[in-house]
Amino acid sequence: MKKYFKVDKWNIIEEGFDKKYNRTSESIMSLANGHMGIRGNFAEKYSGDSLQGTYIAGVYYPDKTVVGWWKNGYPEYFAKIANAANFIGINVQINNLQVDLNKCNFIDFSRTLNMKDAFLKREFTLILPGSSRVKIREKRFLHQIEKELAAVSYQIKPLDKKINIQLTPYLDGNVKNEDANYGDLFWNNIEQKSRKKSAYLSMETKKSFFLVSTAMNWEINSEINSSENIEKKNFTGNKINLTADRGEEIILNKYIAVCTSRDYNKNRVREKAVKLAAEAAQKGYADLFAEHKKGWSEIWQESDIKIEGDPEAQQGIRFNIFQLNQTYTGHDPRLNIGPKGFTGEKYGGLTYWDTEAYCLPFYLATHSSSVGRNLLLYRYHHLDKAVENADKLGLKGALYPMVTITGEECHNEWEITFEEIHRNGAVAHAVKDYIDYTGDKKYLKDFGFPVLAEISKFWEDRVTYNPRKDKYMILGVTGPNEYENNINNNWYTNKIAVWTLKYTLQAKDFIKKEFPKKYSEWIDKLDLTEDEFNHWRDIVNKMYYPYLEDYNIYSQQDGYLDKEQKTREELKDEDIPLYKNWSWDRILRSPYIKQADVLQGIYYFKEEFDNDSIKRHFEFYEPRTVHESSLSPCIYSIIASEIGNQEKAYQLYLRTSRLDLDNYNYDTDEGLHITSMAGTWMSIVKGFAGFEVKNNKLYFRPFLPEKWHSFNFKIIFRNRRIKVHIGKEKIKFELEKGKPLKISVYGQDRIVEQSSCITLKNR
Ligand code: BGC
Repeated sequence: MKKYFKVDKWNIIEEGFDKKYNRTSESIMSLANGHMGIRGNFAEKYSGDSLQGTYIAGVYYPDKTVVGWWKNGYPEYFAKIANAANFIGINVQINNLQVDLNKCNFIDFSRTLNMKDAFLKREFTLILPGSSRVKIREKRFLHQIEKELAAVSYQIKPLDKKINIQLTPYLDGNVKNEDANYGDLFWNNIEQKSRKKSAYLSMETKKSFFLVSTAMNWEINSEINSSENIEKKNFTGNKINLTADRGEEIILNKYIAVCTSRDYNKNRVREKAVKLAAEAAQKGYADLFAEHKKGWSEIWQESDIKIEGDPEAQQGIRFNIFQLNQTYTGHDPRLNIGPKGFTGEKYGGLTYWDTEAYCLPFYLATHSSSVGRNLLLYRYHHLDKAVENADKLGLKGALYPMVTITGEECHNEWEITFEEIHRNGAVAHAVKDYIDYTGDKKYLKDFGFPVLAEISKFWEDRVTYNPRKDKYMILGVTGPNEYENNINNNWYTNKIAVWTLKYTLQAKDFIKKEFPKKYSEWIDKLDLTEDEFNHWRDIVNKMYYPYLEDYNIYSQQDGYLDKEQKTREELKDEDIPLYKNWSWDRILRSPYIKQADVLQGIYYFKEEFDNDSIKRHFEFYEPRTVHESSLSPCIYSIIASEIGNQEKAYQLYLRTSRLDLDNYNYDTDEGLHITSMAGTWMSIVKGFAGFEVKNNKLYFRPFLPEKWHSFNFKIIFRNRRIKVHIGKEKIKFELEKGKPLKISVYGQDRIVEQSSCITLKNR
């Protein structure tokens, strides 16, 4: 396949400009720092096709729900992260010509995302009427440490002749969300002010009342002939005129601060932004960038994966790790990870089960435990809303939403909102994942137990007892495979429900023994009784699981084998992707599986299956799976590694790792698949390296994909940092930080100590 972006280990390079591909490039070239994010738009005007996107974490607009036919229990609104004031803008005119790459002549265009130091660089040579040339360069970054700050450096250099330049650094609040249900404007204007070399703009979201103040200061290395302050509704800036001699390089540096009422009292937001922008200008571009770069070098120090012998795979994994670290930094427990991060508007920029099922393992292994803890606390803080959500459906306990920002459900398709309830299980399982990884059992007593208990109550009420079979069933659900709805006994849902009940009972026993006072408090507060615990035990013992005797495997749901049994191989090119080419009715009746479903359960509970059984399940389900969710191939890749199908594991890895860079699903223009990027990381670390944590111990069962010469990565585990190197001949474990630790490699125990490393033969 011809690649649009050049393959490079640390950079994503676009050479030459294809207007048709601009939206895709804008997604790929996005920058973010956990507090805010911008797509890779141009600083100067661009009148061609583009999605101008600036998003501030947690700042949303409750967009009124759209449905065909209202059903009781539907949410009133779908929260959308509001596209905020464009702060990178600099309008540029040269000799009265508006610089606009949709209209002007230019050569030597390149746009480069530097992942190592997290900045975007762009350059081109503008050809003026009469053929004289002007070199234009732009560089920008969003400060990794001072998260409210960003900086843009814009350089103009006439190569042949003296030029007149008009520059207008500005802040523009005239922005709309493309994804707005009724075309509403999400913002009210509050104020704007322009002063000499600085300006600010304050706007407030409608209905949700988030005040956002954006302030800028700028400096230029040349004399200004004239200047004018501009203040219009939602727009503020300074227009300046100057001249540049041949060969003279004009540099305009713009410093931006974005502050919100999420972090400050409303009457201080503007003052804070103005102060921060002024201080940033004082510090200067070079110093700010040096701090930012240092922040990123620490991130890479912990989370890089280095692959030798496969530049495409190397670029792919770094791109994934880079975007994950841009999206969520764990500095604020009120935030979470949207499937598109800050790179687009689809999915509203909200939280799905993706966070717990896919993202948590990445953050646990590459950051301090406070980051993973904050992801969990997010759900703890939403517990009351999850209880209200279950109540709306007439059920006990807590049903966490399919998609949320405040804890309230936003999804409004009945088959998902009401039926895709397996998501509750992932929230519960994340509590176990976090505790197993960090050893922080106290989390259970303080925050984990109420979440588990309320989810368990939900399962207790949602199951149906079938007296004819003396079995419990879960009827009318949608499993992870959204290509079947309203089915009975989705094996994965039944399994995760029972697992939650079992784990909650164990958690209860643990708290009762270790923290009896807290135990009594929870029992009272959550209104739990012995009868209820017995009921949970009964459900655990008598849950029904659909089974396919002919194949000796679990069935995805009661009626799966009634479907015409066909595999992916039988699909024609024009059928794929099914969701674009087939009617929904045809998809629902077909045997095709959107994403890991039974395999998702095997991934979670693989210790309950022997190798042959995992193989049988994989061999049955994989050929029927179309992987039309980006979350799918990573799970199949991990299972393929588990059963020793290395070739398949590698194939599926490539699909997940370069999904956006190679625009596999033809939808990168809408934004990146951020949450599945964590799955990519898992397919290397959990898949190829066979890494897992069991009973406070790290286990590895590595193999090296045939094409690779070696790969290495780091694991942060309980105040230690371990470097794992997997080569053709040898595997090495080095303790870079912390106390010695016992690990298991291919089933044998070893001690990793500082200043020495274990070297083993690769198998
Ligand atoms: C998948 C869901 C996922 C959502 C957001 C859907 O296409 O089927 O499992 O939660 O995307 O990533």
